[in-house]
Amino acid sequence: MPRSEPIGTAGAPAAASLAAQFHATRALSEALAAPLSDADASLQSMEDASPAKWHLAHTTWFWETFLLRDHVPGYRLHCEDWPFLFNSYYEAEGPRISRFARGMLSRPALAEVLEWRAVVNAAMIPLLDDPALAGLIALGVAHEQQHIELLLTDIKHALFCNPLGPAMWAGSAPAAQAAAAPLGWHAHPGGIALVGHDGAGFTFDNEGPRHRVWLEPFALADRLVTNGEWDAFIADGGYANPRLWLADGWAWVQREGITAPLYWRENQHFTHQGWQTRDPNAPATHISHFEADAYATWAGARLPTEFEWEVMAAAEDPAAGNQLDGAAPPLPKGGAGMFGDAWQFTRSAYLPYPGFRVAAGAVGEYNGKFMSGQVVLRGASCATVRGHSRSTYRNFFYPHQRWQFTGLRLAKDIAG
Ligand SMILES: [Fe+2]
Repeated sequence: MPRSEPIGTAGAPAAASLAAQFHATRALSEALAAPLSDADASLQSMEDASPAKWHLAHTTWFWETFLLRDHVPGYRLHCEDWPFLFNSYYEAEGPRISRFARGMLSRPALAEVLEWRAVVNAAMIPLLDDPALAGLIALGVAHEQQHIELLLTDIKHALFCNPLGPAMWAGSAPAAQAAAAPLGWHAHPGGIALVGHDGAGFTFDNEGPRHRVWLEPFALADRLVTNGEWDAFIADGGYANPRLWLADGWAWVQREGITAPLYWRENQHFTHQGWQTRDPNAPATHISHFEADAYATWAGARLPTEFEWEVMAAAEDPAAGNQLDGAAPPLPKGGAGMFGDAWQFTRSAYLPYPGFRVAAGAVGEYNGKFMSGQVVLRGASCATVRGHSRSTYRNFFYPHQRWQFTGLRLAKDIAG
């Protein structure tokens, strides 16, 4: 996805459940595209985002390339020249169109891509019960789940760019919630902690190896920062005070004329249901790392490190909270728990763990080569397929990016 596309292949779930996961994930991708016209699905609003049709095709290319082509003797590609269109960034898989040319692909039409998906789905069936392929299939499912989230966030940005503010789904957002609970803190005494994935079950390679870190005493907020709290930051001149900002962040604010989170307009925000009244009690989202850091400074706190976040989330159910269950508009709602609503910024640079080795072959390009200049986010968002994330999961984005459902949980130092 983490442009976001972590990848790893250690371990694998049981084959029977994998087949069910495969079919459910493929069906969800298509259900999300159902409200879109061919024109909607072909829009590319910025280089960071891809057309919905491209996501539907690229995930199919992934299955056709790494499973069918590589593991079915005599398999013939559905269309020989489509890999050039739908390879994302795998140098080992040859040349590809430039990232910002994905919006020029008026052909193949959406219907042709959906037809290709059906062909690949049928061809995959004999492979789904092969234990030797379970790790690769689990990777393909996780990969497509990541693209489901990207499909949702990319089409949201594309529709936002239309002055009419079209809705992907009709209807109004739910009524405003009860007042958010006063911010509380969970303290941790610090000490040596074990972090990272132990390799049992599916994991992306960037989550391991498991290793020890040292933590100083700290406290972590018991909920995310809300829209109403962000309004107070704005009202207090948060976007006009250079003392609150990292130098790169302040330069970004000045250069881009940033005065609020992405998608904000007066007391409204843009959603998959078009322009809606913003709920002051819901978590603030669509903020950049720069904004999260400035807010934390203004609030007299700081961002957590990724390891502080992980030790506090280790005992929680990663499938809890407001995450994606089907083809419905994702919207942050707020609540307790470490997972759901929004990916949470950390102050940790996205770097390899001690002992990290890039996997052999093309899938080795999934994660490691992106470990430069990005920051780690933890948790899961309202657009994350439920079951996809876990406490060791590392999402990552560049510090100015904010079209994902990104939010903020405060941390602070405490006396030991
Ligand atoms: Fe991908």
